[in-house]
Amino acid sequence: MEDLSLHVLDVAENGISAGASVIRISIEENLEADLLTIVIEDNGKGMSPEFLDKVLDPFVTTRSTRRVGLGLSLFEQSAMEADGALNIESTIGIGTKIVVTMRHGHIDRKPMGDMASTILTLIEGNPSVDFVYNHKKDAKAYVLDTREIRSELGAVPLNHPQVVSLIKENLAEGLGQIQ
Ligand SMILES: Nc1ncnc2c1ncn2[C@@H]1O[C@H](COP(=O)(O)OP(=O)(O)OP(=O)(O)O)[C@@H](O)[C@H]1O
Ligand SMILES: [Mg+2]
Repeated sequence: MEDLSLHVLDVAENGISAGASVIRISIEENLEADLLTIVIEDNGKGMSPEFLDKVLDPFVTTRSTRRVGLGLSLFEQSAMEADGALNIESTIGIGTKIVVTMRHGHIDRKPMGDMASTILTLIEGNPSVDFVYNHKKDAKAYVLDTREIRSELGAVPLNHPQVVSLIKENLAEGLGQIQ
């Protein structure tokens, strides 16, 4: 995986496959502490402790199309290359929280990539799921909460082309401001 944003997309899609109605994505870039933290949290069906014990094994998957599940183990590999780690907390019937840390300035840390595209792809492809995206960089922060947008839209779906282009503008402006 070239960019961290693609890992985020992959892990968020796991949450959607697990039946989540809300996915929270939080990114914190703390340059002073040289720490990058990415948290992806869902309220999907969760995983059992037995399954959790082996989920980072690249040969574990419940997919039927392909025997190898790589999403989580590749993300863990990217984290470890940048002196970090990937941790999973999960409870059956409650949801799953993936916490990934990395050294922000590590020479082998993958670039963040296009987070605006990741968020937009998730919203466009899953208009009935809510996404709460929080991106902090030092003292600056950007938040996008589709629950707030949804409440203003009434019957208009989140993936209506005009809504998507408004969200796209909001992401570009908001992420531009914290850079
Ligand atoms: N958030 C989640 N909630 C519930 N189960 C999950 C979650 N994330 C992963 N899993 C379980 O762990 C397995 C492995 O996930 P992983 O992302 O590593 O591979 P995959 O999704 O099966 O395949 P790939 O990501 O390579 O397309 C999944 O098949 C699923 O059963
Ligand atoms: Mg996956």
